[in-house]
Formats: sequence, C-alpha cells, structure tokens
Amino acid sequence: MTGRIPQHFIDDLVARADIVEVLGRRIQLRKAGREFKALCPFHDEKTPSFTVSPGKGFYHCFGCGAHGTTLGFLMDYDHMSFVEAVEALAQMMGLEVPQEEGQRPARRYDELFEMLDKAERWFQARLKDDERAVEYLKSRGIDGATARRFGIGYAPDGWSGILDRFGTSNEQIERLLATGLIIRKDNGQHYDRFRDRIMFPIRDSRGRCIGFGGRVLGGGEPKYLNSPETVLFHKGRELYGLYEARQALRSIERLVVVEGYMDVVGLARHGIDYAVATLGTATTEDHLNRLFRLTENVFFCFDGDRAGRAAAWRALENALPMIREGRQIRFVFLPEKQDPDSFVRERGAPEFEAAVEGGMPLSDFLIEELASRVDHDSVDGRARLAELARPLVARIPPGVYRELLMQKLAEAIGLSAPKLAALLSDATAAPKGPAAAGRAASRPARARAIHGRKPSVVRRALTLIMNFPKAGADLHVEDLAGVDRPGVDLLRDIIETVRAEPNITTAVLLERWRKDPQGRHLGKLVAAELPDDEEFDPAAELAQCISQLAQAGLHDRIEILIEKERLGSLSADEKAELRNLSRRPAGGGIL
Ligand code: GTP
Ligand code: MN
Repeated sequence: MTGRIPQHFIDDLVARADIVEVLGRRIQLRKAGREFKALCPFHDEKTPSFTVSPGKGFYHCFGCGAHGTTLGFLMDYDHMSFVEAVEALAQMMGLEVPQEEGQRPARRYDELFEMLDKAERWFQARLKDDERAVEYLKSRGIDGATARRFGIGYAPDGWSGILDRFGTSNEQIERLLATGLIIRKDNGQHYDRFRDRIMFPIRDSRGRCIGFGGRVLGGGEPKYLNSPETVLFHKGRELYGLYEARQALRSIERLVVVEGYMDVVGLARHGIDYAVATLGTATTEDHLNRLFRLTENVFFCFDGDRAGRAAAWRALENALPMIREGRQIRFVFLPEKQDPDSFVRERGAPEFEAAVEGGMPLSDFLIEELASRVDHDSVDGRARLAELARPLVARIPPGVYRELLMQKLAEAIGLSAPKLAALLSDATAAPKGPAAAGRAASRPARARAIHGRKPSVVRRALTLIMNFPKAGADLHVEDLAGVDRPGVDLLRDIIETVRAEPNITTAVLLERWRKDPQGRHLGKLVAAELPDDEEFDPAAELAQCISQLAQAGLHDRIEILIEKERLGSLSADEKAELRNLSRRPAGGGIL
C-alpha cells in the first residue's frame, strides 16, 4: 500500500521530466521543427502522426487522438497505474518519492496485514484438523496441492474461535474489527464473522492477504460470505486468483475472468492457471485496467444462464473504453447449468481451452445482443438497433477497431457503412480531431459544454491558457465574478493557478487536474491545433476572451435585474446596481 505522494513532488517531477528523453527510450522519435514525430504506438499507422511537444511536455496523435503528459504516456504505454508511473519517472530521474507525513498511519496498515496473515495461517491449520472440511474439498475435486497453492483454510464452527485466539487486548480487538474478522454487537461484545466455512484468502498484487471469501460446507445461507470493505480490501478493485496466476505463469498470454472462487480453484486444479474472479461484483473498469496491464487478451467466461449473460453484458459495457489495437476481448458462454468449475471437471481442460479459444469476439457479442433486442426485419427495428448501438460505439476510443465494428454493425443493419456513420454521427463525429469524439453524448452537461461541438468562449480561453500558461499572468479572475457559464469555474481556478505560479507548465497543469471531473478533459484542449505564426498573440486573445465573458456576465446580470424590475421585486441596492450597470457599455452586442 502506497501512501499519498505530495502534490509538490508530482508537480516538480512533471515539470522537470524530459518528455523527449522518456518517450525516446520507448519509441523512435524524429525531430520535426520544434516538435518530434513518431509512428503512433497506440494505433497502426504507416506515416507518423504522433507528435511530441517538448515545450508543453505533451504528446498527441492526430490519427487516433491519444494524448497526454510524460506520466500519462508511462501509464498508457507501460500499463502503469498513476503511482507506478510516478515511481518509475522518479527513478529515471534519480529521485526518491517522498510520502506525505501524517497522511497515512503506515504502522497501522502493517499491523492489519500481519493480523490477516496470522488469521490465514490459523484457518489453514484448522483445515488440517477438520475431517469434514477436508472431505468437502475432496468432494469438490480439490486436492491438497491446489488447496495449499491458494492457501485455503477452514473457519471452525463457534462464535469466538478467532476472537479468543487473537483478540487478546483492546488493540488486537480493534485490528480484528478493522480487518473484518470479527463483528461488534450493539452491546459492545464481539463474535467471529466466519463460522464453519471454507476460507479463501484474497490477496493483493504482492500476495498479502487482504480479506477472505468463506463458503458454507453444504447448503446454507449465505453460500458465500466475504470480508467487508476495509481500508485494505476494496471489492471493486480486487481479483481473486490474480496473484496466484502471476506466480504460476512466466508470461501471461491471456486471462480468463470467471464468476466464482471455486471456478478459479477448480480450473487451477486442472492446470488452467490463468483464471481470475471478481468478488461477487460486476467487472469494473478498475478490474479491466489491472488485467490489461498484464495481458492483451482478456476472456470472460460466465455461467451459461441468464445471470451469466447479464454479467457478460455489463463487462462488455465497461470494456468498451479499454479497446485498443492489439487487444483481444472475447466472451465464452458455457452450456446452460454449467459453470467453469463443473465444465472442466466434467469435460477436462482441453475442452475448456477449446471453449475459450472459440469465445465470441466482443464485436459479435455486442451486435448479437443488440440484434436480439429489436425486430430485425423491420426498418424501424434496424433504426432502433443503430440507436441502441450509438452510446456503446461512442465509448470505444476512435481508431481502427471502432471502424471495423461500425462496418460489422452496418452489415448487420443492412446499411452501407457511410450511411450508418452518418446515422451515428452525433456520437462519433468530432469537431476537431478524433480525440474529442464520442463520449460527449454521455458526459454531464457542464463538461459537454466545454467539449461540445460549438467551441465556446470558455473553451477557447481554456485552450489558450492550457497551451500558453504564461499568457494568463496578467488576467484578473475578478473579471469573471458573476459569470455563470459552463466551465467558468474551471477557467477561474486555472487563471488563479497560473497567476500564483507564473512558471507552471502545460504538463503540470494537466497533471494537477488529472482527477478533476471537468479538468481531466483538458488534455483534449491541449491537443487542439493552434496557429503557429508570428502574429498569433495568445495573451491578447486570452484577454479578449475574458473580456468577452465579463461582458456576457454583465449582460446576464442586467437581464436578471430588468426581469426583477418588471416583476417589481427589485431591492434598493439592486436598483442602484442596475442604474450603474446600464451606464456601462455592457450589452454592447458582443454576445
Ligand atoms: P460453488 O457453488 O461453490 O461452485 O460456487 P460458485 O463459485 O459456482 O458460486 P456462484 O456461481 O453461485 O457464485 C459466484 C460468485 O458469486 C461466488 O464466488 C461469490 O463471489 C458470489 N456469491 C455467490 N453467492 C453469494 C452469496 O450468497 N453472498 C455473497 N456475498 N456472494 C455470493
Ligand atoms: Mn460452481
């Protein structure tokens, strides 16, 4: 578990990183004027449209719209998480990543890990003692080696096994609570969460136990009991079996996502070491990010029932934004009433592998599923199919894959590809460069206004200040007071930042706003093409945008006051304000 990295360190790192050097070690860059060019590593191309701007610390591909800073490149190209990318970049620059003091009680985490480790070993020892539990595992086809490999254990029946063994002080009891191993009653007493259950330790990427899944031995409810969410355990992120798969495999050619613990263990028992399971949750983007960091080929293999198909569809929806050239996503549907565990036991590993190989490509699943929801033979039905596809297609990053899917979709609908493209154009046509395409449809109104089709003054101002932070040095945020336009808050924040930190760079600004719901789209503005001639004066243009906005703000204010006046609800102050404003050339017809 990594603590918080101080923002000033990230700022400094991003400001000092030499994007040409870092990218140059991974792809071949050629100098072209002030910039560098390369064949884009994120899509297939024959002529270079990947551009690196050392001045901005930014790269951008005019072909597929990929863009970002040095950190962003490491994340996308080397499949790193943000923290990993910061660490890698720091290492390249010979810096040590500091941890923010007081932010994170490091010792406490260590103590929790230790408690879970002790509990895990205690459960394993209990399994050895308990014939019934061993018999149960045997009856499910699990041998000793496999049980050991996954660290499977047994929580004995009774209310206080773990509690009595480890809850020896108030501190220890707090740790048992914090790891979810015991539960506190209203009267302040405690009892074991897991009783008479087969215990599956859930591990983080370093192999440390962060929680458990517990299965009843026979019938009984609930069939599975999981550790609750704790500081160490986040169900939407973790994948059961991922650590074990990484241990077993030297190179991970593919990963198969299944639904259950027993599926992972059962497959491993038959030599299929590349299965992982979500923890009773849908497959999230977080999950998929982790998987695609390890392999290009992700298969989903869900139970052959309606619930399984629904889970597959949710996985598809979350996988759409992850589609890239070279990645393969397939869906494997087992026969009705089978899950991967029962299938491999009944039919053996080779047949399971064959089923995986024969999995349905994402595009086919998407089209088949949508087609099943409409009346395929009618014109209306086909139009409806296009309508259903629109938001899904829009989530796929622009590129060859999306084009291919559109072609397949066009065939399925019985339209020519250009006709379909026109039909879907709201979703896929971009105002400028393919990067801004698509997602607009599903974005909240505010963000959409910044990135929508009609470039607004706010968008223009944001584009200018992001590309030329120094151009904002003399602006006054006060001019924007009272201006209520989408994106103005963001603009105001950025102006304040560049005024406070006159040497801030484009890349640092981008990284500061990386996680901001509005700000994370700023990269697209930096990627926008701007004139590159002597006459272009970003500071003057920016100042003009701000004054235009200020005028518009005044205009809005006057309208409101006039409306109030008409309704007879104008206060004395407001009357004075209106008189004052009306004397200025506010509504001067600019907007
Ligand atoms: P077996 O019946 O042991 O073969 O398990 P399974 O993995 O085939 O179970 P199933 O397909 O019913 O469930 C798949 C996954 O959903 C499990 O591994 C759990 O993560 C989760 N799950 C199933 N039942 C429950 C339950 O009652 N409570 C909770 N919290 N999760 C469950
Ligand atoms: Mn099962």
